[in-house]
Amino acid sequence: MTQIWPVDPQQPDPQILARAAAVLRGGGLVAFPTETVYGLGAAALDPAAVARIFSAKGRPAHDPLIVHLADPTDLPRVARQVPDLAWRLWERFAPGPLTLVLPKHPALPPAVTAGRDTVAVRIPAHPVALGLIRAAGVPVAAPSANRFGHTSPTTAQHVLDDLGAAVDVILDAGPTPVGVESTIVDLTQDPPVLLRPGGVPREALEEVLGRPLARATAEAEVRAPGMLPRHYAPQVPLWLFDGPRDWAREALWQTAAHLARGQGQRVAALVPHEDAARLRSLGVQVADLGPEDDLEAVARALFAGLRALEAAAPDVILARTVGEADLGLAIADRLRRAAAQILRPPAPRA
Ligand code: TXA
Ligand code: MG
Repeated sequence: MTQIWPVDPQQPDPQILARAAAVLRGGGLVAFPTETVYGLGAAALDPAAVARIFSAKGRPAHDPLIVHLADPTDLPRVARQVPDLAWRLWERFAPGPLTLVLPKHPALPPAVTAGRDTVAVRIPAHPVALGLIRAAGVPVAAPSANRFGHTSPTTAQHVLDDLGAAVDVILDAGPTPVGVESTIVDLTQDPPVLLRPGGVPREALEEVLGRPLARATAEAEVRAPGMLPRHYAPQVPLWLFDGPRDWAREALWQTAAHLARGQGQRVAALVPHEDAARLRSLGVQVADLGPEDDLEAVARALFAGLRALEAAAPDVILARTVGEADLGLAIADRLRRAAAQILRPPAPRA
């Protein structure tokens, strides 16, 4: 039976953290909040516990896990070598939504890194995550706590809906504050490669690096199989309007009008607040992501909105991007992976 233990997000009860840490040390699975999304944790140095993560999620064994630490001084326990650049990035962004890919320490079981010689490491900024990892006293391997291929969970209920009895304990500290997963940067390549845009904006990283990050190539995506194009697929087809704001907003509205009014389809929309009223007047079910210029609000609401619309089982979900600056890049990335169809503005005539 899965146990759900409520904890205060800012000041979690040390006794509850100690009990959850004991479950981890005993080889169990503990789902816990991070600032990005809920993670499904196991003791990273325990191969049997790590194997349970893969079976609970239905995750293919070739998709490596992120190792979570409470302190940068623990890095040498999981990484064979820590380049200066890593320390410079940790100094500015740890704890926080940044994951670095580094050379793997030989003591780490191969299952964690899916047999690779690199390891992804992050120090989460959530007091519950940090308290749990500290109390456990071991590095904690944790993917997002969703069924493989589904939207990442931003609440304890999402974890329960996806994984149910496969988890021993869920620490419930309410919704996660960032809402999209961590940014992943591969420091084993030169220049460093942005493998996944996320909670730390690319612009902020490039400022510290003093040069542009390389973009992940299609080949790199295949090498990091968790980043397959359709990773975040919802069960209902999602059509994404991906382009400049005025075009995307108008094209989405016209499509909604055509499908809802013209064809009598049940249409849902995942859109910024500015678009909501006009769509509702068409009878469209709307998940309101908040003001378009508040990208933090949009990121926070994104996955819960997607899950809520999916649960309502409409014929189609319409969504649009909100630029590519700042958190807009991570938001666009997740929507593109969720999309069954991506619509772009017609190319200008030559
Ligand atoms: O915000 C986050 O990063 C959340 C929270 C729980 O920390 N975790 C998360 O984990 O999103 P997951 O497993 O859902 O996504 C991790 C991604 C996967 O796409 C995986 O392929 C990639 O990181 N990854 C892990 N280790 C890697 C490595 N050594 N090299 C390249 N990619 C790696
Ligand atoms: Mg995931």
